[in-house]
Amino acid sequence: MNNVYGVILGAGEGTRMKSCLPKVLHKVAGKELISHVIGCLNHVKMQKLFVVIGNGSELVSKHLEELNKKINIAPVLQEKRLGSGHALLQVKKYAAGLKGHLIVMCGDTPLVKQTTIKQLLRYHIKNKNFATVLSGIAENPYGYGRIVRNSSGNVSCIVEEKSADAEQKLIKEINSGIYCFDLQALWQALSKVKNNNSKKEYYLTDVISILNKSGYKTDAVSLTTEEEILGINDRKQLAYAEKILRNRKLEELMAGGVTVTDPSSTYIDNDVIIGQDTVIKPNTLIEGKVKIGKNCIIGPNTCISDSLIGDNTAVLYSYVEKADIRNNIKIGPFSHIRPGTVLKDNVKVGNFSEVKKSVIDQGSKINHLSYIGDAAIGKGVNIGAGTITCNYDGTKKYRTIIHDDVFVGSNVNLVAPVKIGKKVLIAAGSTITENVLPNKLTIARARQIIKVRKKK
Ligand code: UD1
Ligand code: CA
Repeated sequence: MNNVYGVILGAGEGTRMKSCLPKVLHKVAGKELISHVIGCLNHVKMQKLFVVIGNGSELVSKHLEELNKKINIAPVLQEKRLGSGHALLQVKKYAAGLKGHLIVMCGDTPLVKQTTIKQLLRYHIKNKNFATVLSGIAENPYGYGRIVRNSSGNVSCIVEEKSADAEQKLIKEINSGIYCFDLQALWQALSKVKNNNSKKEYYLTDVISILNKSGYKTDAVSLTTEEEILGINDRKQLAYAEKILRNRKLEELMAGGVTVTDPSSTYIDNDVIIGQDTVIKPNTLIEGKVKIGKNCIIGPNTCISDSLIGDNTAVLYSYVEKADIRNNIKIGPFSHIRPGTVLKDNVKVGNFSEVKKSVIDQGSKINHLSYIGDAAIGKGVNIGAGTITCNYDGTKKYRTIIHDDVFVGSNVNLVAPVKIGKKVLIAAGSTITENVLPNKLTIARARQIIKVRKKK
C-alpha cells in the first residue's frame, strides 16, 4: 500500500543475552533475529522501512547494508538508549511530513507471521483506529505491559509490569510490542511522552493513553498465539524460537511434498527450498541458502550448507558446502564436497573422497579415498582409488587439468600444475609431474624387481 510505513526498534542493549554480539544479530533458523522481522515486514507492501539502531550500531548497520541490496531499509541512529518511545521519536525527523499508517515492531520477535501483520493492518484501517496494539492472551502475563480497557472496550492505556497495581497485574491481555499508528497522531502524542517512571525511560506504550485522552480511537486486538509474539531476551528463548521455526519449516516442506523421515533429528533453515518427493533422512542439517531439487535422497547423517543440488541426486553420510551439485549424482557415503566445487550430471563421488574448488564434468567418477583440489576434470573420467592432486607447494596452489575419458589408475599422485590430454591412461602408482599428450599411456613408478631371497 502506498501510505504504509514501517519501523523496527532494534537499538536496545539486550543485556540478558550476555553477548558481545548485538542481540538482533543473533541467529535463529539460520537468519539474524532482525532479518526475520525485516522479512516479515517486507511481505507487507510499504513505502519505506526504518530500522532504529543503537547498541552495536556499526555491526547492525553493516548487516543492514547487506540486506539493503534487496530491500530498501533506512537505518536511524538512537545515540542514547532512553526507552522505546525515545527510539521511535528518532524516526520523526525523517517521517514528520508523511501521512498514512505506521507499523511498529521490535527487532527481537522472529516468530511473527506476515499474515498476522497484514491482518493487524486491515483491522486498524477497517476500524478507523488511530492506534491499534497487537495484543495476546498470556497464561502468565508477568513482565509484559498489560492492556487496560475502558467501559466502551477501547484501550485507555498500557501499564508496564513495574507500574501496574495489584488489579492490573491480573490482566491477561498483554502488549506484544507490535502496533499500527496513524502517523500524524503518533508524532503529536510521542512528543508528549515523559520519563516519569521507575526506569526513567520514555515508554512508547504511553502514547496510547495520550491518544486516548485526546479523543483518538485506541484499540487492541488479539490475532494470534502468545508463542508467535514471543520476544527473544535470552539464550533459552533463542533455543525455544529455533525449535518453533524449525518445526514450522518442516511442516511447510512436508505440506509441499517432501518426506522428512524423522522431524525430531532434522534441522532445516528458513530459506531452504526443497523439491517434491525428495526424502530427508534422519540426523540431517541443511543450513543457509540451499536449493534442492526433486526426487533426491538427503541423509542420513548429512550436512549441506549454502549449496545447490539438482534433481535425482543422493547425498548420504556426507558434508557439502558452497557447492553446485547438478542432477543424477551420488555423493557418499563419507564424502566432503568443499567450496567452489561443481559436479555436473551423473557424477559419482564416493567413499572417503574430498573435492575442493574443482569442476567435475558429466559422468566422471571419484569413487574411493581420493583428494581432488583446484582441478578441472572432463567427461567420463575415472579417478582410481587413492588418487591425489598435489596442488599445494607450501606457498601457492596449482591447477590440475584432466581432459575427457582419461583413466587414472589407483594410487596416482598428480603434481600440479599438470595437464592430462584426452583418453590418456595413467598407470597405477604413478607420480605424474609432466603434462601428458592425448591418447598416451604413461607409467611413472619404479620398475618392480624380483630377486632370489637369501635363506637365513
Ligand atoms: C516492551 C513494552 C511492553 C511489551 C513488551 C513486549 C515498552 C515500554 N514496553 O517491553 O509493554 O509487553 O515490549 O515484548 O515499550 N528499544 C530501543 N531503544 C531503547 C529501548 C528499547 O530501540 O532505548 C527497543 C528494543 O531494542 C526492543 C524494543 O524497543 O526491540 C522494546 O524494548 P524493551 O526494553 O525490550 O521493552 P520490554 O521491556 O520488552
Ligand atoms: Ca523485549
